[in-house]
Amino acid sequence: MCEKIALAPEIERILIGPEEIQKRIIELGKTISHDYKGEEIILVCILKGAFLFTSDLCRAIEVPQKMDFMAVSSYGDSTQSSGIVKIEKDLSESIENKHVLIVEDIIDSGLTLSYIQKILRDRNPASIKVCVLCNKPSNLQQHVKVDYCGFLLEDEFVVGYGLDFKGYLRNLPYIGVVKSEFR
Ligand code: IMP
Ligand code: MG
Repeated sequence: MCEKIALAPEIERILIGPEEIQKRIIELGKTISHDYKGEEIILVCILKGAFLFTSDLCRAIEVPQKMDFMAVSSYGDSTQSSGIVKIEKDLSESIENKHVLIVEDIIDSGLTLSYIQKILRDRNPASIKVCVLCNKPSNLQQHVKVDYCGFLLEDEFVVGYGLDFKGYLRNLPYIGVVKSEFR
């Protein structure tokens, strides 16, 4: 039975519910496990936004894996990319000759991910692929090759399931749109 989800007061509407998120993650995990069969991977979780996505995705991936974390900031408190990406926390281990799967919450302009890809590529991994929960292709300024994508979204600012607005609302179990009066 599908229980009705209580809407947070800041949320206008739910775009993707918890069950749909989990179903898509299982599919992604199957595809990723198939593609990396016989290999070992390092999941690079981009903090903070990808923390929930990574925790569910890693359990859906059946190849040997390690996990590492990188924190970057690109927006400050705005809902628009500043284009300036700062590393707040770097990886704790070398990725040289390793198969790296970057796990990110969302691509908007593409600036954040293309910057992360560039600095990780310079560390000579065996390969780099990208798995994003959401992609908003209409705003793309910098091309990023996305290998695995959970959901394609319209150009709307979304929150929940790790995605934040000014640091809040990451804990929502669904992905939703914030009411305009709160933005
Ligand atoms: P980009 O550099 O413009 O591609 O932005 C990527 C980063 O901006 C993501 O890692 C998110 O942290 C944040 N971001 C972009 N769009 C949204 C959104 O709709 N909701 C919440 N965060 C977003
Ligand atoms: Mg982020």
